[in-house]
Amino acid sequence: MATDPKRIYDLGRPEKRVDGAAKVTGAARYAADEPVANPAYAYAVTSRIAKGRITGFRLEAARAVPGVLDILTYENFGKALKKPAPGPDGGPTTGTLDDARIWHDGQLVALVIADSFESARAGSYAVQVDYAEERPTASFDDAGAQEEASSTMAGDNPHVGDAAAAFASAAARVDANYSTPPQHHNALELFSTTCAWEGGKLTIYDPSQFMAGTRGAAGMSLGIDAASVHAVSRYVGGGFGSKGPNPRSAWIAAAAQRIGRPVRFVVTREQGFTTATFRAETRHRVRLGATREGKLVSLQHEGSELCSRPSRYKVGGTDATARMYACPNIHTAVSIVHADRNTPGYMRAPAETPYMFALESAMDELAYELNLDPIELRRRNDTQTDPVSGLPFSSRSLMKCFDAAASEFGWSRRATKPSSMSDGEWQVGYGCATACYPANSGPAAARVALMPGGKASVQLAAHEIGTGAYTLVAMTAARILGIPIKDVAVSMGDSDLPPVVIAGGSSNAASTAIVVANACEKIVARKANGETGRIEVYEEFVPPGMPAKSIVELAQGKVGLQGGAGRKDVTAFSFGAHLVEVRVHARTREVRVARAVSAFAAGTIVNPLAAYSQFMGGAIWGISSALHEHTEIDRRAARYVNENLADYLIPVNADVPDVKVLMIPEEDTRVNALGIKGIGEIGIVGMNAAIANAVFHATGKRIRDLPVRIEQLLEA
Ligand code: MOS
Repeated sequence: MATDPKRIYDLGRPEKRVDGAAKVTGAARYAADEPVANPAYAYAVTSRIAKGRITGFRLEAARAVPGVLDILTYENFGKALKKPAPGPDGGPTTGTLDDARIWHDGQLVALVIADSFESARAGSYAVQVDYAEERPTASFDDAGAQEEASSTMAGDNPHVGDAAAAFASAAARVDANYSTPPQHHNALELFSTTCAWEGGKLTIYDPSQFMAGTRGAAGMSLGIDAASVHAVSRYVGGGFGSKGPNPRSAWIAAAAQRIGRPVRFVVTREQGFTTATFRAETRHRVRLGATREGKLVSLQHEGSELCSRPSRYKVGGTDATARMYACPNIHTAVSIVHADRNTPGYMRAPAETPYMFALESAMDELAYELNLDPIELRRRNDTQTDPVSGLPFSSRSLMKCFDAAASEFGWSRRATKPSSMSDGEWQVGYGCATACYPANSGPAAARVALMPGGKASVQLAAHEIGTGAYTLVAMTAARILGIPIKDVAVSMGDSDLPPVVIAGGSSNAASTAIVVANACEKIVARKANGETGRIEVYEEFVPPGMPAKSIVELAQGKVGLQGGAGRKDVTAFSFGAHLVEVRVHARTREVRVARAVSAFAAGTIVNPLAAYSQFMGGAIWGISSALHEHTEIDRRAARYVNENLADYLIPVNADVPDVKVLMIPEEDTRVNALGIKGIGEIGIVGMNAAIANAVFHATGKRIRDLPVRIEQLLEA
């Protein structure tokens, strides 16, 4: 184990991306770029109804399109898989070719296979599908929405003391409802799968955040050994939770087997909205009770999330919100509501982005109720002890983040009263919120070799989803082996390499840096013992507290992460603080974010250069979450209507002000051997609340339903 702090902190010298040149010159190979011999092309036909059954297909015209080789529907292909593809929770999901049932609008109903992409597309336009249509349920509040109460659901709903009684007798109270909208990841790289068989061995080129999972899920669906599946994903053009094991890969593999030729399938942007996952809309009721001095005595958070009909997937963020502040009485619950929609899934900080919006908005409301500065309210409720389990936080520098950000921001200039600061025609408001994310790690293996000439190779099936993973691995090896970073050759993105846990849950840096550091330290020790020649080490890392067999299960595609509130020794979270200034135009009610300062304490920062942009990218996505993103639904048809990058609003440069990131030094000796807490997701968390809170400070108008819109500010 690496325990030399000097070595740990030497990791914090910035490095430019080792794959930067490959990316900007186009040499970096993404999944759909991988060459295969003589590929056929698949194009999807998707459902135009949201609920009902397919009653028949009329395929003559499509078959007559030149170049069309085959048309796959449930009638001729529904039994092609041994086991249906699992959803994001491992349970049943929507959107496959299994049978005649239609679960949601835009569901995959046929695949047209042709000699060229153009022929497949032309063929798909000629496919006619007949349906028996039923009236669909779009979302919460629509007829037919089915609620599944929290008591029947798996997962934690933290509960301490008697929150209802404490709330009833509290001196100050907030009781408010909040909501967040459906959102789609919209990674620049489209979803795709390319499958090629050679004998009984399958190669899948699929943009994947978890190639062991991609391999395992495909093997299971096809009824073949995972060892016969080779998953390749050298670069991913944005994952954000959407690019993992999915139903699409196995269907394309079966199609390639059926026609005896490799098949390439690139999903259109529009079809990606319905054939992959998304962030579901959520609703929250938060009740906070406090003493006059601002000490919380009761915290209650009830969440509700939209889901598809067959799945029971939920993100359930009360594991985080229940632990943010010292409070003796806590009640939480999460329910899901089933409607005729595609199955949701992970999207950057899946739980914390919506749930912390609710909690941090309510904390702001409580601060005004108490006539207390909102940062001071958080200070009075700060704690080094997890209020649910009583365990210590591995480290928690929340107030250091607030203090550093406040000083940089000039928070002391904030007027106490809402709607009292202005600049010409603009109302000015300051807002703040807490950011948090569980510090996770997972099993990982790596093979490191040091050559006699001083060059090294590092091999591991880790994932470059845009985070700088190649650079992190290369710099970790270079620093410990004492060689230049250019002399380290890193191979990743291939399931034949030693397995690494999912690039998700912000776990990648800790898991890969630790296993690579451990391997390199063994090489250094062997060299010090006089060994010469090529020195190779194969190393496995399983986080303390996880069973040793986790590494074997990982190779079969099972996700195992350890961290957050799931540990027996400490509770491990990263913390941060967002401070923003917004300006709301006095007459048009246009909202602009004028500036933002975000401070984070996330243990060891391996590469400050990559970390700065990761934090800033998260903060900008938070601005998007507050003011822009909303997948609009035509409720009569249960259909997404802005399923393209023109109508799906995201911030452009003109929407993004000066976003300043502060990295607060934090030495965490308990979280893991290198003190790395992970930074991939925390940046987005809380920014939506900070902006809504600033809008309140500017205008006196509390917006509890995201995104904040002009029309909400026009109402008196
Ligand atoms: Mo992340 S939503 O764990 O890719």
